[in-house]
Amino acid sequence: MANKLRLEGKVAVITGAASGIGEATARLFVEHGAHVVIADIQDELGLQVVSSIGTDKATYRHCDVTDEKQVEETVAYAVEKYGTLDIMFSNAGTLGALSSVLEIDMTVFDRTMAVNARGSTLVIKHAARVMVAKKVRGSIICNASIEAILAGPAPLAYVASKNAILGVVKAAARELGQYGIRVNCVSPYGIVTPMVREMYGGNAAFIEASITEKASLKGVTLNTKHIAEAALFLASDESTYVSAHNLAVDGGLSSIMN
Ligand SMILES: NC(=O)c1ccc[n+]([C@@H]2O[C@H](COP(=O)([O-])OP(=O)(O)OC[C@H]3O[C@@H](n4cnc5c(N)ncnc54)[C@H](O)[C@@H]3O)[C@@H](O)[C@H]2O)c1
Repeated sequence: MANKLRLEGKVAVITGAASGIGEATARLFVEHGAHVVIADIQDELGLQVVSSIGTDKATYRHCDVTDEKQVEETVAYAVEKYGTLDIMFSNAGTLGALSSVLEIDMTVFDRTMAVNARGSTLVIKHAARVMVAKKVRGSIICNASIEAILAGPAPLAYVASKNAILGVVKAAARELGQYGIRVNCVSPYGIVTPMVREMYGGNAAFIEASITEKASLKGVTLNTKHIAEAALFLASDESTYVSAHNLAVDGGLSSIMN
């Protein structure tokens, strides 16, 4: 089992893959035999990830998920380059800015919704259109969050946008099942990625200690590879009958009252 390639010959697009969870997932998907298009707005970082993975296995494409044309062109690029699209991981996201609901800046709210909720919807739309047209029984995965289950100390707009993703995934899974396309979510607990570091201040060790202290499952610190493993399960044929599911990768925290 350990050496079995679980995505052999598959083609994947991963948004937000220049960093963090998306990058770890791109690396794992390639290790399992996939070709991956890394789609992000951080061009320099994205190109570095591609060159460290290998240009024969991965390519970079600039794609702002708030721009429908760029999303559509990124999907078309994957199909042109590798012939098909089997897996879409809608992972790009933003935390936005912390604020009290009493003072909330609706421009920030709109921006967070545009990247997380609208962006995921666009990504599902264009991935599914290609999968339907090419009769691919594909797997679409969205990155939601534990904040979609429990409202933790994240910005209100982030919590709202991640809840919206759960709804979009369920509605899309309902409609796309007739084509054999599965749509699921992963919902991670906290990991100190650049997004989290930027919001909660630069001290990674301090943020990680506070995440670990609040965790339910002790003796392990959640990392990006753990989320990539969950995405790999949902992308692979091992989850053939799993759809409209939200796979929490949170050590049980969202289901347990400590
Ligand atoms: N780190 C956590 O604790 C955590 C927990 C739950 C869910 N998540 C989710 O995981 C996903 C990945 O975040 P991460 O923690 O790896 O952070 P990260 O900062 O390492 O990665 C986020 C990536 O998204 C990209 N991005 C942002 N806006 C974009 C846009 N408009 N178009 C395309 N790409 C864009 C960024 O450039 C970056 O590369 C996000 O959706 C986030 O909400 C993270």
